[in-house]
Amino acid sequence: MTKRKSIYICQKCGYKTPKWAGKCPECGSWGSLVEEIEAKNVRIGWIKPSTTSPLSLEEIGEERAERILSGISEFDRVLGGGIVKGSVSLLSGEPGIGKSTFLLQLANKFSDYGKVLYVTAEESPEQVALRAKRLEVKSSNIYVLAENNLEEISKQIEKIKPVFVVFDSIQTLFLPHIESAAGSVSQVRESAAFITNLSKSEKITSFIVGHVTKEGTIAGPKVLEHIVDAVFQFEGDKGYNFRVFKSLKNRFGSTGELAVFEMTEKGLREILNPSEFFLSERPIGKPGSVIFAGIEGSRPLLLEVQALVTRAVFSTPQRRAKGIDANRLSIIVAVIEKELGYPLRNFDIFVNVVGGVKISEPAVDLPIAAAIISSYLERPVKENFVLFGEIGLTGEVRKVKLEELREKEAKKNGFEVASNISTISQIPDFLC
Ligand code: TYD
Ligand code: MG
Repeated sequence: MTKRKSIYICQKCGYKTPKWAGKCPECGSWGSLVEEIEAKNVRIGWIKPSTTSPLSLEEIGEERAERILSGISEFDRVLGGGIVKGSVSLLSGEPGIGKSTFLLQLANKFSDYGKVLYVTAEESPEQVALRAKRLEVKSSNIYVLAENNLEEISKQIEKIKPVFVVFDSIQTLFLPHIESAAGSVSQVRESAAFITNLSKSEKITSFIVGHVTKEGTIAGPKVLEHIVDAVFQFEGDKGYNFRVFKSLKNRFGSTGELAVFEMTEKGLREILNPSEFFLSERPIGKPGSVIFAGIEGSRPLLLEVQALVTRAVFSTPQRRAKGIDANRLSIIVAVIEKELGYPLRNFDIFVNVVGGVKISEPAVDLPIAAAIISSYLERPVKENFVLFGEIGLTGEVRKVKLEELREKEAKKNGFEVASNISTISQIPDFLC
């Protein structure tokens, strides 16, 4: 009989230790070590005996990965030109963001290529059928299986031979030979490895749903992200009816690519010109509103950055940032104080990227500074201009990547680039 050994595993980073501790010595998180039974002789199914032998680089032909198109052009673009046959992707996102809805829509598209299996380990088949009805999905090629046990699931896959499988979700699936509960690090990791082996050997294209925790990380160990071929994330604010679909990792395409979808009663609808969509409700002629020409992946995107500068109520002024890095905001405020002499320490400052999009590139510095100055001086920014540029500590405005692409996007949407701002002290010249 196999010996069973109990072990403590950090649910955040996967660190293992025989003794419990309050704090994980590896990643430093508190209360994350959970007792699990370590299975000896872990048997991961579906590894076929290797029949291959090494090839020299010259012998290897230029076999291109075979891709299938979903017909949802923005989705296909983010994946790098369609989904690679036999690949395993993870779709992560907060509960209720629309993962199941989107994957059912995708299942519908892929049912044109053969049988599709939707494994629902969270909802009943009736719930899935109800959703399908609402989304007007009625392909007879879509099969729904309500099952949590991956070994049972693999038997069904062998039987019906689908081309595309959705596993909804990884946190509710389990392998019976692993003794810890579904959703634990061991189960999540081994289940993902099992699905990957199954997909590769049977040439099935799979999508795995993964919930994210409050901190925004995928529940389960980081290793999950290493096992799969691609990781995509759904982002969005509950207050808005659109969702951003982003590639965080892609073995078959570039990362950081983004697509925007609008939520409708009949499911997600792709937005072909997100710039126009994000600017549609922009206030015209109001101080504190600036258009930023950003780059997400390889796509240019116009977004509105808003700032509100009001007299501080308490002695310590508030600094709030949504959609941008809060530390970056503090630095920009300090540079403005120093270069322009505004007493911003007496003012609360709130900055927001409209639409709940998160921006991480430094090119957003200049629009943030302009929005703050515009709100402070109560003078709107000149009409029909977009801004971008990184701000240095002495107030200089630096060049950023892909400026031509940003300019092209601005022109396409009827804007001009405010190009001759070389230091932040010139920003007031750009106000009305
Ligand atoms: P759901 O797909 O169940 O989210 P997740 O699988 O990520 O938890 O979607 C949550 C709810 O939002 C569900 O009641 C359906 C609704 N919804 C729409 O009505 N339209 C849409 O376009 C989307 C994406 C969701
Ligand atoms: Mg769901």
